[in-house]
Amino acid sequence: MTEAILLVGGKGTRLRPLTVRTPKPMVPAAGVPFLAHQLARAKAAGVEHIVLATSYLAEVFEPYFGDGSALGLHLEYVTEAEPLGTGGALRNVASRLRSAPGDPVLIFNGDILTGLDIRALVGVHESSGADVSLHLTRVPDPRAFGLVPTDATGRVTAFLEKPQTPEEIVTDQINAGAYVFRRSVLDTIPAGRPVSVERETFPGLLADGAHLQGMVDSTYWLDLGTPGAFVRGSADLVLGRVASPALPGRRGDRLVLPGAEIAPDAKLTDGTVIGERAVVGPGARVSGSAVLDGAVVGPGAVVTDSLIGEGAHVGARTVLAGAVVGDGARVGEDNELRAGARVWCDAVLPAGTVRFSSDQ
Ligand code: GDD
Ligand code: MG
Repeated sequence: MTEAILLVGGKGTRLRPLTVRTPKPMVPAAGVPFLAHQLARAKAAGVEHIVLATSYLAEVFEPYFGDGSALGLHLEYVTEAEPLGTGGALRNVASRLRSAPGDPVLIFNGDILTGLDIRALVGVHESSGADVSLHLTRVPDPRAFGLVPTDATGRVTAFLEKPQTPEEIVTDQINAGAYVFRRSVLDTIPAGRPVSVERETFPGLLADGAHLQGMVDSTYWLDLGTPGAFVRGSADLVLGRVASPALPGRRGDRLVLPGAEIAPDAKLTDGTVIGERAVVGPGARVSGSAVLDGAVVGPGAVVTDSLIGEGAHVGARTVLAGAVVGDGARVGEDNELRAGARVWCDAVLPAGTVRFSSDQ
């Protein structure tokens, strides 16, 4: 049976303040830590043993997921003393693998929501006889990703991480953050120092003539690295645009977790999730958003494509559109926060202090 490594050690800088207290894979998406969806999808594909490569806020993973037996998995945790980068993290956990040198090992970035057919990727790896096989997807603007051009047979011809110049933008195919490595190839990554699998390992393997095979598909794919993408991903899970066995309820227009209090005339739409013990007041409208455990949405508030952190309060009539309110923050009534606004954890914004529009 294939085993897997999950890379979950990044700092999640672009997601702050969501990642000030919580590592990115533990931020709730559709009611459970995002990682729960990835683990459930791997399990559904037949993976049994998963090693989590942790670094930033490493101590929170094991208390939540334990040895994985509740999920039907065997989980192990390895923590880097200093962040080792994506490649260094893989090398650092290799001793925990049970696979033989020729066996395939699955590797996943810890922030990708995708409908990838994991078995199909392993199938491509086996039929092509590649050293490494990569899931690829096409995006309109590839600059924030690893560009991966392939030849007519799907063989990878180059790997260009985060291209800086227009000449480097040679394809719209990008590294989708899921790989199959032949186990013996993992063992060749240098130990004991930071290594980027994207900037060092893949280009080095190509220079040495190794066989890297790409599998391009057009299934659902989203990197949840920014607040806007994270909130969209959570809503898409609720709506069932991407399936997850870990969704804590039925898919639909909304997901309300146990103990939440929703006023009868409040409107929850477009994949909104309301966490445990959260409160949504009369006349409030919440669309495409995530309201985490114990948060409060005041009467008449209008919340769109936004995330409200654990225990945060949003006052009456306040408008949030594409905003993030950190855990424990208090946004007073009659504020208007739009377009990527981020309120830090525990911050207090008095009533009527921020507006984006004039009075009518
Ligand atoms: N253990 C450990 N240690 N994990 C790490 C470290 C580290 O030092 N640094 C990053 N990670 C983990 C992150 O937690 C994340 O799950 C994964 O490695 C990728 O890091 P990101 O910071 O999310 O990278 P990115 O989104 O800029 O780019 C990566 O993903 C793109 C697809 O979304 C690259 O792999 C690109 O090539 C790719 O296109
Ligand atoms: Mg990422």
